Amino acid sequence: MKLEGKTAIVTGAGGYLGRGTAMQLAQEGAKVMVNDVNLTEAQKTVDAIIHQGGQAIADGTDVTRSDDVNKMVVRMLDRWGQIDILVNNAGDIRDALLPAMTDEQWEFVIDLNLKGSFYCARAVSSHMIERRYGKIVNTTSMAYKGNAGQANYSAAKSGVVGLTLAIGLELARYNINVNCISPGMIETPRTNTLDKTIVERIVKLTPLRRMGEISDIANAVLFLVSDDSKYITRQVIHISGGMEGF
Ligand SMILES: NC(=O)c1ccc[n+]([C@@H]2O[C@H](COP(=O)([O-])OP(=O)(O)OC[C@H]3O[C@@H](n4cnc5c(N)ncnc54)[C@H](O)[C@@H]3O)[C@@H](O)[C@H]2O)c1
Repeated sequence: MKLEGKTAIVTGAGGYLGRGTAMQLAQEGAKVMVNDVNLTEAQKTVDAIIHQGGQAIADGTDVTRSDDVNKMVVRMLDRWGQIDILVNNAGDIRDALLPAMTDEQWEFVIDLNLKGSFYCARAVSSHMIERRYGKIVNTTSMAYKGNAGQANYSAAKSGVVGLTLAIGLELARYNINVNCISPGMIETPRTNTLDKTIVERIVKLTPLRRMGEISDIANAVLFLVSDDSKYITRQVIHISGGMEGF
């Protein structure tokens, strides 16, 4: 098992990609704190991990609240004494064309996708620096290159790329790898509710001519948090079937 003896926090792990990732890390031996503001869904992920023989605890912290994020990290350290891995996965959209985008839509998306990633990375950083070990994986989206109707999301996800590049540089001297995954369109019950024409358009833009699978994301994160990738840092890995933008 690649993550024997390691511990991980996965944010938004009551959702589709986060759940798949948390289960994959647990399957490889990591003890996982399953964070999600929706504690019921977080608990379902924990139950699934325990069912497959792994170890996990649920945590309902809202990652947009700085003090609460710091407390979440303290709880993790009290429980398992170490944090080896942080996967910043929590994220969401509030789409609108520019003239119609409200302050609330802008702030919600920036706070969750960008600020939340910063708060979590900052909260684990002192501990990782002290131990001279750590793996941080942030989650952007191919929309970081710009997508119509997503000024807020594109700005937030570009910010996540900038955050990765900056903290990757700061933390490299402490043996902490910081990378970013950029999923294309991944098939989940949520993307299945999208308008068929939108899905068809994106699949047409995708050289592999299909949507990705949750396991495509989980496998890439596993690689980035394992020592198989120990000489890889500050990279944005497109898991998008070759799709380079909208
Ligand atoms: N699914 C895709 O096709 C796709 C494509 C590109 C990028 N992404 C990114 O991948 C990540 C996961 O996407 P998903 O499709 O699994 O979404 P999802 O909505 O299924 O899961 C996101 C989870 O985050 C949780 N969450 C929301 N606000 C939170 C908060 N303040 N604190 C803690 N948790 C919170 C939600 O409750 C939800 O369970 C997101 O960052 C998203 O932007 C997804």
